[in-house]
Amino acid sequence: MAAIKVADLHKSYRTGAGRVPVFEGLSFSVETGHSLALTGPSGSGKSTLLNILCGMETTDRGVITLFGRVAAQRSPGDWAELRRRRIGVVFQDSNLMPALTLEENVRLRADLAGQSFGPVRDWLERLGLKGLERRYPDQVSGGQRQRASLAMVFAMAPDLILADEPTGSLDRNTAHDVADELFLWQRRRGCTLVLATHDLSLADRCDQHLDLAGGN
Ligand SMILES: Nc1ncnc2c1ncn2[C@@H]1O[C@H](COP(=O)(O)OP(=O)(O)OP(=O)(O)O)[C@@H](O)[C@H]1O
Ligand SMILES: [Mg+2]
Repeated sequence: MAAIKVADLHKSYRTGAGRVPVFEGLSFSVETGHSLALTGPSGSGKSTLLNILCGMETTDRGVITLFGRVAAQRSPGDWAELRRRRIGVVFQDSNLMPALTLEENVRLRADLAGQSFGPVRDWLERLGLKGLERRYPDQVSGGQRQRASLAMVFAMAPDLILADEPTGSLDRNTAHDVADELFLWQRRRGCTLVLATHDLSLADRCDQHLDLAGGN
């Protein structure tokens, strides 16, 4: 079964200078448990598409089906519940709570998703954050915050992960290790993954590849 089905999606932003079209008839689907890489130059719509898929951005036309249900029929409360339990989001600006340590952030996320805590310290260690568990988000680097966000997503055990440049602010070796953890976790759980990236070697590791460059 397809976890995500997008048919004839149209999306434009209205700005003071007029309408900015982003998608003009985009269609694709992702099978449950598969991974999809979104690529394309800056401004091609990768983040917009991820935002649409988690209900944070509106669309102009087209039908999106998520987990077998038409997205437009979902209420804001449904979307909030999906983001709490079923859709894990790793976005460029991390969504850590500033008043909690990295470890507390991960535990809170598991709690909100109704999951038992799991090996939180182990995930943090495998993501290269050993020794930083008790630091607050503003006491670590941007790349370390991003990895803590990934640990939060692992903790919530979602059915779908939406990741916007999850390795974007990491050096080559760390990026490779983090990608290993992400794919290992995703395959083991059978969860669906949509990943926006400029890194073609990362895109190559996904089951499917959608290039937004051509204007869709
Ligand atoms: N809130 C907004 N209002 C108006 N235009 C917007 C808005 N958000 C995005 N856009 C425009 O929509 C297009 C797609 O933007 P988006 O952020 O989805 O691109 P992207 O592929 O994620 O780029 P990057 O690789 O730089 O992250 C761009 O032309 C951008 O300027
Ligand atoms: Mg983007």
